[in-house]
Parts: sequence; C-alpha cells; structure tokens
Amino acid sequence: MDQPSESSGSSHPPLAAAALRADARIAEGRRLIAEAVADHSRAVQGVQPANPDLAEPYETLLSRLADTRGGPPFWPYLSSGLGQGPFVELADGSIKLDFIGGIGVHGAGHSHAAMVDAAIDAALEDTVMQGNLQQHPPSINMSERLIQWARTGGAAIDHCLLSTSGAMANENALKIALHHKFPADRIIAFDNAFAGRSLAMAALTDRPHYRMGLPLVLNVDYLPFRDSANPERSQRWAVDELHRLLSRHPGRYAAFWAEPIAGEGGYYPGSHDFFRALCEPLREAGVPVIFDEVQSFSRTSKPYAFQHYGLDEFADIVTVGKITQVCATLYGEALKPKASILSQTFTGSSSSIATGLKMLDLLESGDCFGTEGQNVQRHDYFAAHLSSLHEKYPALIGGPFGEGMMIAFTPGDGSADHAKKLMMTMYDVGLLGFVCGSLPTRIRFLPPPATTTFEHIDAAVALLETSLIQFSQQIV
Ligand SMILES: Cc1ncc(COP(=O)(O)O)c(C=O)c1O
Repeated sequence: MDQPSESSGSSHPPLAAAALRADARIAEGRRLIAEAVADHSRAVQGVQPANPDLAEPYETLLSRLADTRGGPPFWPYLSSGLGQGPFVELADGSIKLDFIGGIGVHGAGHSHAAMVDAAIDAALEDTVMQGNLQQHPPSINMSERLIQWARTGGAAIDHCLLSTSGAMANENALKIALHHKFPADRIIAFDNAFAGRSLAMAALTDRPHYRMGLPLVLNVDYLPFRDSANPERSQRWAVDELHRLLSRHPGRYAAFWAEPIAGEGGYYPGSHDFFRALCEPLREAGVPVIFDEVQSFSRTSKPYAFQHYGLDEFADIVTVGKITQVCATLYGEALKPKASILSQTFTGSSSSIATGLKMLDLLESGDCFGTEGQNVQRHDYFAAHLSSLHEKYPALIGGPFGEGMMIAFTPGDGSADHAKKLMMTMYDVGLLGFVCGSLPTRIRFLPPPATTTFEHIDAAVALLETSLIQFSQQIV
C-alpha cells in the first residue's frame, strides 16, 4: 500500500501493517517456507500406488467422512496437503495426476509456490474473512481486475460483487435481473443447465434429482443447447423455441441465464452464431443476458468465454468462480439495484482473495490467452491424442469434445454405468477426471491452465490408455 511520502509533511508514522510486511523476519519466514515446500513437493512427481501401511488409517478417515457428511463421498479422495503441478499426494500415500482439480478450482495445480506465498500474505491480514463491514484493499484490486478483464472487448460491465460460491454469485446475478425487471418473474435457461445448489439454483438447474422434494422458487423455461454435430438445426430449434416462449409470456422474462460452454451438462461448446441468434431477440425483448462463467472462466482463448465467442455486447451480467478462488457477480451500471438487495457478511476469505489475484497473474504470465495461446495449443494437442485413442479403441472412447482447457470424451456406450466404471478405473490407475452430462455421460478434464505442460498431457494420455485396456476387460 502507498505510504505518505517524506515531503508530504505528514506527521503520521507509516502504517504499522506496512512495517509488519516489510519486516525482515517476515521475508525470512516466507523464504524458509518456500524452500521447505519446494524441497518436499519434489517427492510428489509421477503417479504412484497407495502405501499399504496407510490403507487402514485411510479407510478409517473415509468412514469418518461418510459418517459426518451423511454418506460416502463420490470417490475416496483425501489429500495429504502436498502436491506439485498437476500431481497430488493423497493421505493414503498414492500420487494421482489431477486433471480435474476440484472441478476446475486448482488452476495452478497443487502447492504452487506463488499460491502458497499469496496465502501466507493473506494469513498476515488482521482477519480471516472479508465482507460487508470488513473490506480490505485486495478485495478492491480483485474486483477491479475482473471488471477490467471483462471490459477489454467492450462489454458494459462496471461493477463487481465478490461472494463465496458460484451458487451465491448466481443468486446475486438473478436478484439483480429480477429486481431490474420487476414484476417479470420468469427465467430462460438451457436444457441440462447447472447453476449451483441453493434453493433458487436447484430450480434453475435442469436435473430432476437435484430438486427432488424442493419447492420450485423460480419459473424457468428451457431451450435446447447447441449440438456441434448439427449446429444449424440445433440453432433453428433453439431460436424457434425462444420466439415461442417470448410470445407465450410477453414481458414476463427477467433474464436469460446461460453457460457459454455447457459444463455439467456434458461439455457442449457454444458459438458466436448460436448465441447471437438468441441474444438479438432477447435484447429486442429487453431481457438481460447472464453468462455463467463459473466453470468456463480462463479456459478458452480469452479470459471470459463470452469474449472467446465475441458476445461482448450482450454480456449484461457475468458470474465467475472456481479458478478465481473467490466468486463474483459482474454487472453494468444500467442494472445497478435501486434497493439494498445485495450484501454478505462474508464476500471471501483473505486467503481466497489473495490467491485469486495471484491466479489472475499466473494466467497472464502463463500465456494462457490468445488465438495461439497456451489454452488453444494444449487443447489441440490433447484433442489430437484423444482422437488417436478413439481411432485405436473406437468402441471404448468417443470424441473429443469441449473447448480449450475444458475437454471431454465419451466412454464406451455413453451410459452412466460405463462412465462411472471408467472414471473409477482411471482413479485407481492414477488419473483424475470426472463425469459430466447424461445421454451420453462423458468424462471431462479441467487441467490447470497456468501450469499444464505437453509432458503432463502425454502422461495423462498414457494413463488413460492403460485405463481403457482395463475397462475393456470389465465390460465384456
Ligand atoms: C457453471 C456453474 N455454475 C455454478 C456452479 C456452482 O458453483 P459452486 O459449487 O461454487 O456453488 C458450478 C459448479 O460446478 C458451475 O459449473
């Protein structure tokens, strides 16, 4: 933070916090921690099986987890707390190649020196959490940078509200739109949409079993998403359906909410033409457009996928999360609420804000963006290898699908059973990917954009091939 200069004539001493941060003991402490983390994380390179001696204590931990959370986790992952790049050590002593990263959260992989250092910096803050009555300058920096990045292609984004989850970022987005369009109360979304797990997001999310037994607190109508295999036909269907909805409920729509790339729904990319054909009539009807970038942020040729598809003029409200460590809702001045409908005790932890800022630095310095940027190059490289596996094992793997650093394939017959079988085989072999979509169910990868190398992709492809061979024996 800027200090008053000598010549300012101020009688105030420098900030005590600035003196703390400049203290040589802090610098030495950070240096020693960085050295220790580097020394120990060097051991976490390359996949290795679990240590049999740790099998029993690991099982005990898992059953305690199942007891406390009211059921077993989706898979038996418990981190030891150390990793290196995409490699992570689990508490059973195994090392996995993590190409799912908590579903897109660990954008620099595990135990990244700069992320650890940013977290130490945050630990020196006077409070663990930031929020409503407890804001600090890094919150402003994070908000300003997200706004600045969003505006580079001309999007009318002026404001940013930090929050602690993607669901909350979407709650705030819908509140802004509903408030602006009151008394309009309907939302348009896509088939297979996923927006989070709050009550409102359970109504918006297009998964019957995620809203089972819950009241439908939002009126949502769904459009079919783009199908890359039939782009023109799927676009025509979506546009026709949109017109039907707009004329069935004139003036009743408060927002169109869309993931530019369908994430949980199965890694279906959007396109400029598809979204433009929908956004133009929506704009004419005065319906605000919300782009949910909780999963897609940072994974394409531009920071935001709406920029990747050249949709800047339509981005009225944007939500981000996951890789940004702290989540956010961005919106334009025209949509600024006229009442105090937005506020939270917690907008994020000091640590998530500090590491979120560092993540943005790493994405920039990692040359992730641009038509020739790393995201595009790694996608092409990975996709070519997945295509080769498809040619070699056409009955075992279909695809690839997705965009940039969101990449997926269809296992076996595309059933949920085959996808889960292969995912767990991959887990045992040492490669972490995760299911998405239904009819077909796919397995997706979200490799860390800031640190993935071609060698990491080679390692993933080799582990996938081993897994496919084992999987073929399970499904005969
Ligand atoms: C597109 C999208 N929106 C929202 C969410 C919800 O985010 P969170 O789980 O942080 O609430 C997710 C999470 O997977 C997501 O993929």
